[in-house]
Amino acid sequence: MSLAFPVVDHPSPALAAAIEERLADPGFGRYFTDHMALATWHQGSGWGEDSTGPYTPFAVDPAGAVLHYAQEVFEGLKAYRHSDGSVWLFRPEMNARRLIRSAERLGLPTLPEEDFLTSVRSVVTADQRWVPNGEGEKSLYLRPFMFADENFLGVRSAERVRYAVIASPVGPYFPSGVKPVDIWVTTTYSRAGTGGTGAAKCGGNYASSLVAQKEAYEHGCGQVLFTDAATHTWLEELGGMNIFLVTGEGKLLTPPTSGTILDGITRDSILTIAPELGLGAEVRPVALDELVDGVASGRIVEAFACGTAAVVTPIGRFHQEGADPLFLTQQQGTATMAIRNRLLDIQYGRGDDAYGWRHRVC
Ligand code: PLP
Ligand code: COI
Repeated sequence: MSLAFPVVDHPSPALAAAIEERLADPGFGRYFTDHMALATWHQGSGWGEDSTGPYTPFAVDPAGAVLHYAQEVFEGLKAYRHSDGSVWLFRPEMNARRLIRSAERLGLPTLPEEDFLTSVRSVVTADQRWVPNGEGEKSLYLRPFMFADENFLGVRSAERVRYAVIASPVGPYFPSGVKPVDIWVTTTYSRAGTGGTGAAKCGGNYASSLVAQKEAYEHGCGQVLFTDAATHTWLEELGGMNIFLVTGEGKLLTPPTSGTILDGITRDSILTIAPELGLGAEVRPVALDELVDGVASGRIVEAFACGTAAVVTPIGRFHQEGADPLFLTQQQGTATMAIRNRLLDIQYGRGDDAYGWRHRVC
């Protein structure tokens, strides 16, 4: 039977003035709305106990399996307010399907696509006051997640699992907004290897990226670029985003999602809209040497990071241990900005939705 996530109203929701203050300068992931969706899965009986109720802390037992073995997966998507006040999701079924794939890889139960969509719609509807207007690229970021909620130290898949959706009003992920971000290229640390969890959106991938991300910050960079774990020869992705390079002839290059990188929904959307912007796209392995030589010779003129949080953020420079920084010649390049604007126009209802990607919530 499908889950309904019936709404249990918060007894003392945030005052309008408090919401207004937070929406004026939301940052990223700092504030949370009044409600959250919840459901629990039990081995044998499946999903149930679904509701959208007041945002409340979990009581996690010290023996809770997720604290020890990181059996956890999550998603990230946004609700956008259009100029007429309506609120829309962008390709939420893609997040639902990816959560299923992530859950399968982590030995967690799968949540049917329809239930995922109901949970997300339920939170957005209950907390629609928290959806900022679209100015300054603001939106309501939704974070569905699932974790092992069994108090047991044996190493096996949990027999009790929690699913939840929380929501956070956000502005741009990078505090500098659309200003080019610098990238630290690591050939020391790896994010994922063949047969590992790279293609799953699981917390462990992010935990293992943090030491490299710290190194990036120490070198003045906003994100880290990982190369393949086996040879450190091929570009993979950033700690929390996919990557595209743009050649002088206006061709987009991005590595294939061959099991070690996240199959980004933004990445997929960019590959779909590229032809309408007159941009060719090549999905193929891209060597680190090709990046270094290409930027140095001027063959690669632009690069950008993309993801739900980052949207499309231009890359300014690549830094590597013991090497001079590589400057992209186009810092907010024509192709990067055309893609960014087209994507935002679809998401905020300013442009036509030729692909049926927008879903109205309220
Ligand atoms: N790669 C990683 C590691 C990410 O965390 C994200 C963000 O979700 C992406 C890529 C981009 O995925 P999407 O465009 O679906 O947000
Ligand atoms: C997202 O873009 O939704 C992510 O999960 C990435 C993270 C850097 C916030």
